[in-house]
Amino acid sequence: MRHLLDIFDLTTDEIYELIKKTEDIMNHPNYYLDACHGKILGKLFFEPSTRTCNSFESAIQSLGGGVVGFSDPNNSSVVKGECLIDTVRTVSSYSDVIVIRHPQEGAPKVASQVSVCPVINAGDGGHHHPSQTLTDLFTIYKEKGGFDGLTIGLCGDLKYGRTVHSLISGLSRYKNIKLVLISPNELKVPEYEKKEVMDKSWMKYVETTSLEEAIPELDVLYMTRIQRERFSDEKIYERLKDSYILNKEKLNSAKNDMIVMHPLPRVNEISLDVDDDRRAKYFDQVRNGRYVRMALIMKLLSDMDVPDKKQDESSFRHDLKCNNPRCISSTEKDIKSAFRITDNGRCRCIYCDKEVAV
Ligand code: NCD
Repeated sequence: MRHLLDIFDLTTDEIYELIKKTEDIMNHPNYYLDACHGKILGKLFFEPSTRTCNSFESAIQSLGGGVVGFSDPNNSSVVKGECLIDTVRTVSSYSDVIVIRHPQEGAPKVASQVSVCPVINAGDGGHHHPSQTLTDLFTIYKEKGGFDGLTIGLCGDLKYGRTVHSLISGLSRYKNIKLVLISPNELKVPEYEKKEVMDKSWMKYVETTSLEEAIPELDVLYMTRIQRERFSDEKIYERLKDSYILNKEKLNSAKNDMIVMHPLPRVNEISLDVDDDRRAKYFDQVRNGRYVRMALIMKLLSDMDVPDKKQDESSFRHDLKCNNPRCISSTEKDIKSAFRITDNGRCRCIYCDKEVAV
């Protein structure tokens, strides 16, 4: 069976098929009322969620299926000290597909090692969030008719924003895209994303701290919130939290057909006066998320006999320890550390992708 842990688990053709399937579902929702009759989605939300959790619930119910699991770990045996592995084994036993969100990076990977059904990563720490990326790609496709040749601005917390990391990976497949990475110096895109994704696919990008200077050339502006819960020092968050606020006035210098996106929740980074602008697409993005997840659930359930993409585990090193405090392998006991060797001979944790010095 297959899992969706990061967006590279899907081929470019499969992403296109999912986009087309989503369009069909939106046009003919009644055709799909029983598409997953009797199927159960297990939700394991170790972190708060409004859109992701509800859109998955809405998706499985719109397909005729049901839901088990928890949206707050305080209502589960997690509070009694149950480990992640046992919780996943249990909920997956009652489910046909599970969706997991967790503050530690790599938790969905651990889940995929023990789950008896497909696993969807609904956000792991500051790492990945591939089902949001499918929603984002669908929204861009719908509004812009494709991806090639677009200039896309990503603005805000590019260091901890998992939707940003997954979206960069998703966009890296398309030709002639230019990324404008707009962030404070402290919150730039992590090095591993630049080296392993952007450089490898020859993506064009520039980094800037100025939203005002970047805005006129953009076709898409993807705003994000500063990820307060990922900061170890609250004072740094306080200093950076209002770095970018998009308002009606700043939009005046944007192209007439630029679109504004945001995975939401917004805190302060888009003022309410932008909502009425026809370029604001973030609530369309919310709506699209339900249909994209319907297409995704159907795909994973119909691909049950398709083997998961295999990594060559024989070359993994197990003698190192990940020093990323946000990695699941450094907090959850009974997880065997594993590192893959990169092209330039470095070692990266298979759970969180961080490099360790050897
Ligand atoms: C995002 C998330 O949880 O990563 N929201 C979402 O899933 N739509 C963005 C965020 O929390 O800032």
